[in-house]
Amino acid sequence: MSSSAPRHILAAPAWPYANGPRHIGHVSGFGLPCDMFSRYHRMAGDKVLMVSGTDEHGTPIQVQADAEGVTARELADRYNRVIAEDLAGLGMSYDLFTRTTTRNHYAVTQEIFKGLYDNGYILTKSTLGAVSPSTGRTLPDRYIEGTCPICGFDGARGDQCDNCQNQLDPVDLINPRSKINGETPVFVETEQFFLDLPAFADVLGTWLQSKSGQWRPNVLKFSLNLLGDLQPRAITRDLDWGVPIPLEGWLDRADKRIYVWFDAVIGYLSASIEWARRSGDPDAWRAWWQSPDALSYYFMGKDNIVFHSEFWPAMLLGYGGTGTKGGRPGSLGALNLPSEVVSSEFLTMEGRKFSSSRSIVIYVRDFLSRYDVDALRYYVAVAGPESQDTDFTWTEFIRRNNDELVANWGNLVNRSVSFAARNIGSIPQAGQFTDEDRAILERSANAFASVGDSLARCRFKNAITEVMRTLAEANKYLSDQAPWKLRESDPDRMKTILHVALQLVDDGKTLLTPFLPSSSQRVFELLGGEGTWSDMPRIDEVSEDDGRPYPVVTGSYSGQAGWGSTAIKPGTPLSQPTPLFAKIDPAAAEDELTRLRGYDTEPGS
Ligand code: MF3
Ligand code: ZN
Repeated sequence: MSSSAPRHILAAPAWPYANGPRHIGHVSGFGLPCDMFSRYHRMAGDKVLMVSGTDEHGTPIQVQADAEGVTARELADRYNRVIAEDLAGLGMSYDLFTRTTTRNHYAVTQEIFKGLYDNGYILTKSTLGAVSPSTGRTLPDRYIEGTCPICGFDGARGDQCDNCQNQLDPVDLINPRSKINGETPVFVETEQFFLDLPAFADVLGTWLQSKSGQWRPNVLKFSLNLLGDLQPRAITRDLDWGVPIPLEGWLDRADKRIYVWFDAVIGYLSASIEWARRSGDPDAWRAWWQSPDALSYYFMGKDNIVFHSEFWPAMLLGYGGTGTKGGRPGSLGALNLPSEVVSSEFLTMEGRKFSSSRSIVIYVRDFLSRYDVDALRYYVAVAGPESQDTDFTWTEFIRRNNDELVANWGNLVNRSVSFAARNIGSIPQAGQFTDEDRAILERSANAFASVGDSLARCRFKNAITEVMRTLAEANKYLSDQAPWKLRESDPDRMKTILHVALQLVDDGKTLLTPFLPSSSQRVFELLGGEGTWSDMPRIDEVSEDDGRPYPVVTGSYSGQAGWGSTAIKPGTPLSQPTPLFAKIDPAAAEDELTRLRGYDTEPGS
């Protein structure tokens, strides 16, 4: 157990758009790592609050709703549920996974907007907005396509160029056309609200500089670079789907809404407030947001960095009255800035970019219907896109499962427990330890400090590699000591070896709990443990004030799992284990590839 006082740690994974089911590219970079981080900190005795939800506003939702012929709300309702189920299936230990279409979220978003406005950090400006000449309706940025003025790419969207990644404005596109019917949009004057980002340049700079040596270097470098060119940023859109603008004369306008990114980042706060209300102590969120020694870790893919290291911190600073224009904190009080923005790189699929529209994709639920959740979690920890773009291949997934998870960990559990069960029937008492015994026990006990340190610093690959190395040494110990040769000649020594081996198995399941919570629970039970070791999330049906029901992912996470070695209890009965993990037939890789190719050739998919 960690000896320091428990800390309040906010674990904040990015909010998935409710525009389709999640694929493994969505969850590998930041979702599952955030869960591993949270589970570790809870085991170490810290007070973790992990909150997120579905991101349900803006054009990503509108575009998909139009494509499916439903309203934005219907689409959001459908995928909010699908996504909540996917994430619960992955064992994501959210304290609350909610959504952005709750009344609470609207109220908190409007409160932040007003606070910023009152402090003078929101300006209005007249801009040119695109309108469809045939319908007279405004065209959201994403509905407009044209040639990128920066790199010349012809498929650039009005908000962004996917070729050079630059943020764009629709008026800048060369030869703009509507993606809906190909017509050329006309640009008319429209008034929007802007967040005065330049007013935060200095304080953001000082804050970012102070993170040097702490954050992943690429995230820090990217964030510092952004500061060189801060412009006021539009935070409203001509759209009817989103949070209304909380100002007189604007609140009732059906054609103006708050920009989706402005409300989405507020979700971390509103979800914390919703969680506190549901827990029965409405002020409980404050310990994570306002206490000066609370920590907050935000997990996301690299395309989200700008919103978490610049936009959201600026909003928090402005709401607290800390920018060049001063001001005072809004009614919620001043709020903490992120302690760390943890960004991952992208996962590609068999050499290609994940793309739902082209079906180069493996959906979470399909994956879980064919493979063990811990096989995926293991793969993500050891081979995920933590610090570079990484390719997922079925061959590599199967190899990692068979040669590492099954051959190393599964094998250690299986041969130790089954040999002890068969020959003794319970955890044996140890006699005198040899130097080898002591060395391997010490090696295992010491792993907690190094693995814990890596997990706390979000170095998941380092952490799991260190665990697997320890387990490989435990396997070697067992092979070298060969207790099966001592059955007749030295049963006492055999028992001591088995005692040591079972202690190593017990330590192993603890070290692996943040990564592999389900199988660790099974090993806990194999060794005679009763009740809950590592908790799984559950889905609760809750409802809005108006009775509209929605699912939330939540859980109690009060299981017995603690970070550290605990002594096994001699005399505990053991029975024959069933294998912990299934070996996957390497031929499955071909089947999966055939599946992918099959999707790929479907017309219009
Ligand atoms: N929905 C966004 C995406 O998928 C992420 C939103 S993260 C939040 O890229 F911070 F805004 F919540
Ligand atoms: Zn471009």
